[in-house]
Amino acid sequence: MKIVKVLMIVMLGAVMGCSSGSDDTGPQVGGPSDDIDPGTTDDEGSTTDDEVPVVDPFVYDATEDLKNIASFPIGNIVSASKLASTSANNTSFKQILNAEYNSITAENDMKMANMFTGPDTYDFSDGDAIVAYAMENGMRVHGHALIWHSSIPNWLNSFSGTDEEFEAQVEAYVKATVAHFAEAEDDSGNPIVTSWDVVNEYFDGSSVRNSLFTQRIGNDFHEKAFQWAREADPDVKLFYNDYNIAGQVDKRNAIIGMANNFITNSIPIDGIGMQMHLNHDWPSSDLPISIQAISDTGLLVHISELDVKVNYGDDITEFTEERAMAQEFQYQRAGYYYTTIVPSAQQFGLTLWGFRDQDSWLYDGGSDWPLLYNVDFNTKISHRGLVAGLNGENPE
Ligand code: XIL
Repeated sequence: MKIVKVLMIVMLGAVMGCSSGSDDTGPQVGGPSDDIDPGTTDDEGSTTDDEVPVVDPFVYDATEDLKNIASFPIGNIVSASKLASTSANNTSFKQILNAEYNSITAENDMKMANMFTGPDTYDFSDGDAIVAYAMENGMRVHGHALIWHSSIPNWLNSFSGTDEEFEAQVEAYVKATVAHFAEAEDDSGNPIVTSWDVVNEYFDGSSVRNSLFTQRIGNDFHEKAFQWAREADPDVKLFYNDYNIAGQVDKRNAIIGMANNFITNSIPIDGIGMQMHLNHDWPSSDLPISIQAISDTGLLVHISELDVKVNYGDDITEFTEERAMAQEFQYQRAGYYYTTIVPSAQQFGLTLWGFRDQDSWLYDGGSDWPLLYNVDFNTKISHRGLVAGLNGENPE
């Protein structure tokens, strides 16, 4: 029996069972019931497996919206095309976005490959649409990301000019981009784009990553990038962003060393983005340790791309109750440790990297379920875990 092919009827039965009672105080877990075999249920004239709606059983009825729980901004990713779309799915997406989030990051639209269209030529239109949406809906935009080895436009990859000309192109891009997005302000004169990931993933483990930027500018390209960004906007918050800061101690120490070096040498930096692409069982004890260590730099701390894979070992073919619960626990840990460890003045926010599992960059053709919402935009129990963590409920 395929666990994901649980009858909608089972779900409806559970919901109806709840609604007949007077207890509406807490969320109910949806899920397969031990004593019901979907294959033999014949309610509503229901029929064969093929006609059964496919639902994710591991959902619950959320009663709290994320942004109303946290005392810091809660973010998620968007694209200009989804914001502009009026399809049913994108209408649902925007309803959830507006209800649960007050910070947005462009998943791809504000990366270099999308905006740096040719020598001294920029296309900011997608970013502008995202900024306009944020302004209309009272959200901030976190800029992501000025320099990343994985988002280089083809023309720049094969740039035939000198290294000095290459550097001049990148400098002009960073300055033009930051200056452009500094122009958007709300009615009170506050910036919409509050912050930028200036350099993304400079490190490869604890070493400097070999990239086009190290080759053509040098290992100090990251210091230059932060200085260029600061020259273009004296106020915008400047972040260094990377993955496995939780979980990889050597890498974390290299990043903390870099940050301390910046501070000592007056190279502008305001914060560190911990991407937080986690697994259901990793990291374990290093999660709070890493959040403490990054907080100890005194810089702003952003959980910038949170998601929790449940099948990194490819050992399951369907989402299981055991993995759903482990994922709920890991989301609770992330929310709890961020909420309770990072001093409030350093809490820049917590950003999720997607809405429905199937829209995740880690969906992997349907073999992982990393996020908070199922196919129908219903809240998974992972959402309940994050809610509990943000509410300060200790998961351990
Ligand atoms: C990912 C996007 O989600 C994908 O759509 C895209 O194909 C590749 O980039 N670290 C980052 C993000 O900083 O920008 C990445 O986003 C995920 C890993």
